[in-house]
Amino acid sequence: MGKFPLNDSGISASRLVYGCMGLGGSDWSNKTAYTPEDVKQAHEAVEAALSIGINMFDHANIYKSGKAEQIFGEVLKERKDLRDRIILQSKCGIRFADDLAPFTRFDFSKDYILDCVDGILSRLGTDYLDILLLHRPDALVEPEEVAEAFHHLKASGKVKSFGVSNMSAGQIRLLQSCLDVPIVVNQLEMSLYRHNWVDVGINVNRDPAANDIFPEGTLEFCRLENIQIQAWGPLAQGIYTGRPLTDQSETVRATAQKVQAYAEQKGTTAESILLAWLMRHPAGIQPVIGTKTPERILACKDAERITLTREEWYDLWITARGAVMP
Ligand SMILES: NC(=O)c1ccc[n+]([C@@H]2O[C@H](COP(=O)([O-])OP(=O)(O)OC[C@H]3O[C@@H](n4cnc5c(N)ncnc54)[C@H](OP(=O)(O)O)[C@@H]3O)[C@@H](O)[C@H]2O)c1
Repeated sequence: MGKFPLNDSGISASRLVYGCMGLGGSDWSNKTAYTPEDVKQAHEAVEAALSIGINMFDHANIYKSGKAEQIFGEVLKERKDLRDRIILQSKCGIRFADDLAPFTRFDFSKDYILDCVDGILSRLGTDYLDILLLHRPDALVEPEEVAEAFHHLKASGKVKSFGVSNMSAGQIRLLQSCLDVPIVVNQLEMSLYRHNWVDVGINVNRDPAANDIFPEGTLEFCRLENIQIQAWGPLAQGIYTGRPLTDQSETVRATAQKVQAYAEQKGTTAESILLAWLMRHPAGIQPVIGTKTPERILACKDAERITLTREEWYDLWITARGAVMP
């Protein structure tokens, strides 16, 4: 990849990232602790990811209210050689209900960001994060404060590089105008199911109302500014790969069948086809896979090997849209 800075050992990121949101048990509140079985599951998921060449791991301080980071910290403690061989990324900025408010809100204030990073480092049991992302845009963001927080984190060595998630080009530009460090990542929901990120391009000068909220120009901005685009939800939470369907639409069924047909034709899995579809896009997308099931992780191993032709790529997009090109 080579787009963002290397980690301390000079390792550059793998094309696939392992997303750790599923680790740490099933309880999103901090009421129930994770079990030894959950720790075993985390070890197995990390091992499966490493075995297919993944060396980058994605966290957020809110995943299972900190337990995803905590359990990953246990894995790191048992595998002393691992920290230097991987790139660790986490996020902050979403603030669950606490003493100050009984609801979730977003908070990019300086003290909150600094506090969050201390919590992340302590749960992961590491001295530094390779990349810190701001999780979701804070409506009350003051870019100067974010700049102070990032400056402090960089100077103290706690965070090497910085990025954002779920942000438009305008929001990134506003932040960047005050920062003395570059934004190196933007993580967005993108998949064959969640295909509004490509639809937006063909709706220009046609039907802007059909844009389904993906901010126009964001992909192009990231490409121009050398900001690595990461795709969360790249397996569409299993909708095309065997998860029992809640969306029973004919389009979903037809797409699942087509994905499977390409998998059989190319001697691979439906998971690898879905990822190869994202990776065929010239933006150089880095998918963040989130399954904790080892067999499903292993099913992603061919993603980099498979190259879809232009016609195959459009065929999948048109089928998933349920509509031909305008
Ligand atoms: N930046 C953000 O706002 C944001 C938001 C959400 C997620 N993320 C990151 O992105 C990562 C991936 O997100 P995601 O979990 O939504 O993505 P995903 O890889 O598309 O979906 C994986 C999820 O689908 C489930 N699933 C069920 N049946 C499946 C099947 N047949 N095939 C594949 N998966 C199946 C998995 O369950 P099992 O684990 O039981 O296999 C898992 O919960 C997360 O771990 C997190 O790091 C970021």
